[in-house]
Amino acid sequence: MLIIHTVSQLKEHISRYKQDARTIAFVPTMGNLHEGHLQLVSMARKTADIVVCSIFVNPLQFGAGEDFDKYPKTLQADTEKLQSLGCNIVFAPSVEEIYPADDFSVTQGQTALSKITARSQITARSQITAQSQIIVPGISDILEGKSRPGHFTGVATIVAKLFNMVQPDTAVFGEKDYQQLIVIKRFVKELCFPVNILSHPIVREKNGLAMSSRNGYLTEQQKQQAALIYQQLQKIARELMAGNTDYLQLEQAAFESLNRYGFRTDYIKIRHPDLSQPVASKASRELVILAAAYLGNTRLIDNLGVELKR
Ligand code: PAF
Repeated sequence: MLIIHTVSQLKEHISRYKQDARTIAFVPTMGNLHEGHLQLVSMARKTADIVVCSIFVNPLQFGAGEDFDKYPKTLQADTEKLQSLGCNIVFAPSVEEIYPADDFSVTQGQTALSKITARSQITARSQITAQSQIIVPGISDILEGKSRPGHFTGVATIVAKLFNMVQPDTAVFGEKDYQQLIVIKRFVKELCFPVNILSHPIVREKNGLAMSSRNGYLTEQQKQQAALIYQQLQKIARELMAGNTDYLQLEQAAFESLNRYGFRTDYIKIRHPDLSQPVASKASRELVILAAAYLGNTRLIDNLGVELKR
């Protein structure tokens, strides 16, 4: 397994694979890999000759006051896990490599040296302003996007850049970040990226908590408490299966329950799979329930798909 830090080195290897007509599956990550990520890599392994995994904590998708600074960096442990799964390339670039100096908004008169200082002090997207960016309108502004303005533009932009660098045939994403998956599928389709997008179901802890790198911020007691989000999703799913179509009431009841259990709930919503709002009192065949809630300072998200039998 190769560990590559520069775009030029990555491109050399990719063009060799292309010349040999080898197919490439790609798993983009921000590192701190857990079982959920590893299952994406195993899925990628089954679909192509070559598996590339990127590890890059992308400042462009973090807002001011979010956890960009403290996002765990565990490259050594991550590469060991990837090696054991038969990954071929780990691409772990620096922020400078992905967002080069000239791309930053630099106030007039700054010297080259102060530009470099500015780059090494990047804490979130506010310092990366002169980049071309991919905006996926509408869908990026609801749910997660409403609470984290600019987040999905940051995600779409980095994923598009990585696709152009890795040139994969297939890319694999986890369904825990459901809205992210919808945003990516949409720009890939609309901008004609020649990449087949696959998704992998959420991997959960024994107590139902969706696996996430951010679970590492939780205490053992909070990890038990956090499973209540999934329990609320399941409760709504049972009601929907029983024919309840009072979506607003179901959302409201779950929202209040989570708050009573000590969460600061951001949203809990019932949506069509494309994230449009279902019409109350009109049963839909497929729905997805999405939630975001803070436990202490940690933002947790989860979702559950429901297929109603008719
Ligand atoms: O899901 C993630 O880990 C990130 O949003 C992604 C897709 C790697 C882009 O930075």
